Amino acid sequence: MKDAPLRSRLGSRTEASRRQHRCLEQLLDNLLSAIETEAGFLEPFRTARSLAAEHYRAEALLLAEIARHDAALAEKMTAQHAEALEMAAALEDAVAAGHTGDALLLARRFHAIAQHNIIEEERDVFPLAERWDASGSGFGHGGV
Ligand SMILES: [Fe+2]
Repeated sequence: MKDAPLRSRLGSRTEASRRQHRCLEQLLDNLLSAIETEAGFLEPFRTARSLAAEHYRAEALLLAEIARHDAALAEKMTAQHAEALEMAAALEDAVAAGHTGDALLLARRFHAIAQHNIIEEERDVFPLAERWDASGSGFGHGGV
């Protein structure tokens, strides 16, 4: 069976990522509201973290294609994903240790990196990937 056309395959991946970003942003907004109103932030944090982890796993396929063209750019996005999940793990450790102040700070940092990653991907990464794909400059398949 032949591969699907590259453009539609990549286009569907960036589209899927954008759709997931809208859902994740909603959860990140909920988290920020909970932080700022000093409401319980743990539940909105965990909901956002779960979706972020799922989204990052799904987006790894897209980043693997991007890495064929610009390894540094893909690595930068992958590092941001890892950083967000590290913040999330550190937050759970802080909660377990009863360090509420640290947990709140880590919730803010998790929010900031996850939101920044969405902005950078949509502003810098996806348009580039779609341009490489549209120009037939070898996105994913060595220029063929
Ligand atoms: Fe993303």
